[in-house]
Amino acid sequence: MDNKIIRLENIVRIYQIGEVKVQALKGITYSLEYSEFLAIMGPSGSGKSTLMNILGLLDRPTSGKYYLEGTDVSKLSRDEMAMIRNRKIGFVFQNFNLLSRTSALENVELPMVYSHLNGKDAKEKAMEALASVGLKGWEHHRTNQLSGGQMQRVAIARALVNDPSLILADEPTGNLDSKTGAEIMDIFCRLNQERKITLIMVTHDPVIASYAKRRLYLKDGLIVGEEINQEAGQQPSAEGG
Ligand SMILES: Nc1ncnc2c1ncn2[C@@H]1O[C@H](COP(=O)(O)OP(=O)(O)OP(=O)(O)O)[C@@H](O)[C@H]1O
Ligand SMILES: [Mg+2]
Repeated sequence: MDNKIIRLENIVRIYQIGEVKVQALKGITYSLEYSEFLAIMGPSGSGKSTLMNILGLLDRPTSGKYYLEGTDVSKLSRDEMAMIRNRKIGFVFQNFNLLSRTSALENVELPMVYSHLNGKDAKEKAMEALASVGLKGWEHHRTNQLSGGQMQRVAIARALVNDPSLILADEPTGNLDSKTGAEIMDIFCRLNQERKITLIMVTHDPVIASYAKRRLYLKDGLIVGEEINQEAGQQPSAEGG
């Protein structure tokens, strides 16, 4: 039994546009244990989103192997990728990616369309997920009537509702002010600590990254460093109020 949730072996991703080849990932080897909270940092163009797309089974490596919960997922068909993605992975994006004229509840019910749950059970799970991110009472509001922080909470509830093993978040606080960003990070820390969900987050912001226990640095498609922060999960002290 593989005790790592993720094992990457020499992952390369080359984008080809006409004659031009861009080597976005040049050989990433990395393992992550269950229940970790990892922040991925690095300059623009270093390959962070490319790596997240591969981790999220939205894209396949050009070469290399990716084991997710012990299964080699690097050569699956698109349908097989979609099936595993829907069951095991929740996504949170910078732009929230919600259906805008649709209620918070309907947005959260969406990933359960392919599950075996009946409508009533799906609704109950969605209500629970919304309550767990502090949105009890907001279920029937349309998402375009919500604040940015509330929209990101809806997106987190949607990511949670299929009980994923892994949540991937690409710049989840990029469109939020620092106070709202801190609230979102408190939710992530709680999910990580209480529900043991493995979290991988891309961020440019060192304050946001300091919530994660591990920080991985990418540069030019390669891992150039890793830091472990033993005090992670506790809120960074608020300097200057
Ligand atoms: N779909 C694509 N087609 C061609 N090239 C791409 C594509 N996506 C990314 N790239 C290239 O791959 C490299 C890595 O891009 P990536 O988006 O992974 O960087 P990033 O670290 O997420 O940057 P940012 O911080 O700006 O979001 C860049 O050189 C980029 O131009
Ligand atoms: Mg990116």
